[in-house]
Amino acid sequence: MITAQEFARRRRDLMATLSKNSIAILTAAPEQVRSRDTYFPYRQDSNFFYLTGFHEPEAVLVLIPKRPQGQFILFCRERDRSREIWDGRRAGPEGAREQYGADDAFPIDDIDEILPGLLEGRDRVYYALGRNRTFDTRLLDWIDGIRARARSGAVPPDEFVDLDHLLHEARLFKTATELKVMRKAGAISARAHCRAMRAARPGLYEYQLQAEIEHAFASEGARHPAYGSIVGGGANACVLHYVENSASLQDGDLVLIDAGCELEHYAADITRTFPVNGKFSAPQQALYEVVLAAQLAAIEAARAGNHWDEPHRVTVKIITQGLVDLGLLKGNVEDLIARNAYTDFYMHRAGHWLGMDVHDVGDYKVDNEWRLLEPGMVMTVEPGIYVAPDNRKVAKKWRGIGIRIEDDVVITRKGPEVLTAGVPKTVADIERLMAP
Ligand code: GLY
Ligand code: MN
Ligand code: MN
Repeated sequence: MITAQEFARRRRDLMATLSKNSIAILTAAPEQVRSRDTYFPYRQDSNFFYLTGFHEPEAVLVLIPKRPQGQFILFCRERDRSREIWDGRRAGPEGAREQYGADDAFPIDDIDEILPGLLEGRDRVYYALGRNRTFDTRLLDWIDGIRARARSGAVPPDEFVDLDHLLHEARLFKTATELKVMRKAGAISARAHCRAMRAARPGLYEYQLQAEIEHAFASEGARHPAYGSIVGGGANACVLHYVENSASLQDGDLVLIDAGCELEHYAADITRTFPVNGKFSAPQQALYEVVLAAQLAAIEAARAGNHWDEPHRVTVKIITQGLVDLGLLKGNVEDLIARNAYTDFYMHRAGHWLGMDVHDVGDYKVDNEWRLLEPGMVMTVEPGIYVAPDNRKVAKKWRGIGIRIEDDVVITRKGPEVLTAGVPKTVADIERLMAP
């Protein structure tokens, strides 16, 4: 559980990096229509939630470092008895102060009257331009309004600075509390994958395994998947972001499941690939062992002091060597790597940052160089081999096999900590779990 103190510390840390006489402005995520007058389940913007813990739409966060009357200002929907009977409870400005620790809180409908006064006289505005066009226009209009009164002494801010960069650097490094939540999200997601492995059998539909997974998430309190669950049987595993999940599972095929829950706004991201009937065939096992060896070696390389690209580099080497050993690629391993021959089979990178967003924020390069891994960073390690069903350059037995193995890893002082170790990944362990 992220506490009020932690949200307050995040605001304090961010404000400490803002320049003198500045203001930072963030908007809540808009609601999204799903169909006519029904909406997708609401998900707060990650940056907004990171700083507030506030989960309602139609809200604006304003931070003004060192403002004597209070630094943390929240605009939000007013309490409304009738709307609350229909649509659910609202904190209102009173709740924003009492439950969320705002120094000042105002109805969102009053923002046109109040925010220009807060902007006036500040030198610099920290804001993520371009992400909310409607709000961008309103903000520029307020500033124009101040400019128009320049002759009567009004001083408009004259500098816009991107807030994302500062915030994303902070979000990249997870605190002990965040890691606790992420460990739990990883454990719940691992149990869900085990449940799907046990349920799998020929004739089931991909969406039925999706249902097993998502049932397990929700019944442990992780009410939403962190991203659209991928369940791809047979050659569907070669579609990297396959989300149709509508085919029936065939005896003799593998099935790839890429699914992770979101818990308290933190994501898990796990992929396992296993035989629908519980037994790997020889070609499936041969390719699987290559991916597994690459994944294990990449996890070993996920160490403080290594650069971000090192785990990826390790996977490229092992996968290319494996493809040569099995006869899917021909030639010298170094040459094949130099001309990216492996990308016919392995066309994505070995991982990404993980946190409140599944593809989390944070730079991968600093000054044009891969950045070094540091304790507190969380990343996925997810190599794969995908043999297109129509690849005529390889023997028939390999075609249509798609395999990915993905775990979530924290960089710690003592080495990599795998958050998602609760779901088996060796051939023997998977076959044991799936045995009748
Ligand atoms: N589930 C998306 C990914 O693995 O990156
Ligand atoms: Mn994934
Ligand atoms: Mn991933």
